[in-house]
Amino acid sequence: MKAFYDAWYRWGNPPWIGEPRSELVRLVEDGTLKPGRAIDLGCGVGDNAIFLARHGFEVTAVDFAPSAVARAQARAREAGVEVDFLVDDLTRLSHVRGEFDLLVDYGTFDDLGAGDREAYVREIVPLAGQGGRFLLWVFEWRLSRRERLFTRLLPFGGLALAPGEAETRFGPWFAIEKIAGGQELPGWPRGWAAYLMERRSVVDA
Ligand SMILES: C[S@@+](CC[C@H](N)C(=O)[O-])C[C@H]1O[C@@H](n2cnc3c(N)ncnc32)[C@H](O)[C@@H]1O
Repeated sequence: MKAFYDAWYRWGNPPWIGEPRSELVRLVEDGTLKPGRAIDLGCGVGDNAIFLARHGFEVTAVDFAPSAVARAQARAREAGVEVDFLVDDLTRLSHVRGEFDLLVDYGTFDDLGAGDREAYVREIVPLAGQGGRFLLWVFEWRLSRRERLFTRLLPFGGLALAPGEAETRFGPWFAIEKIAGGQELPGWPRGWAAYLMERRSVVDA
């Protein structure tokens, strides 16, 4: 999957490139998410990371595709903002350290297969300081048998979270609110969801 993404960013323009995502923009602009230490998990070419840096956040941004990170660094320089971009794998982090007030993941966790989802949760939970927020955007629907077969043939570990899976995987550590989403959509992909979570105190978890 890493080689697939790296080649796509090197030779092409994946369709999600362009603008910071709407839920993130709204939550920052209405003051729900206040400046602090933020990390973008699977940052691609850095649209969300650059947006956060422009709005006063101290930003770290991680992607395992070196070509994505190189493009993101160039775009941040052009935008005149500082972001600490790192090449790292979210299922076994080696370079990311410390705690953050805000974690952001747009479309990375849902790419992962079941084993990698477990590893991701193990790696990212310690990054959220007490009371830290986690904005997670995923494709979400119950995969058909044909779609499950498709994920095995494609270089992706997964396509979408099952309904309820975000709560099962993150609920032990975060209080979870679903803030947006659409299910049973016409066409394909068939559904999505955005979650805003808050790290429980260690005593509660
Ligand atoms: C669908 S793209 C979304 C990119 C970006 N979040 C955005 O919204 O523009 C998913 C991103 O996650 C990255 N990614 C996938 N699995 C990863 C992993 N295990 N570690 C780090 N990055 C990963 C990919 O390289 C890709 O840039």
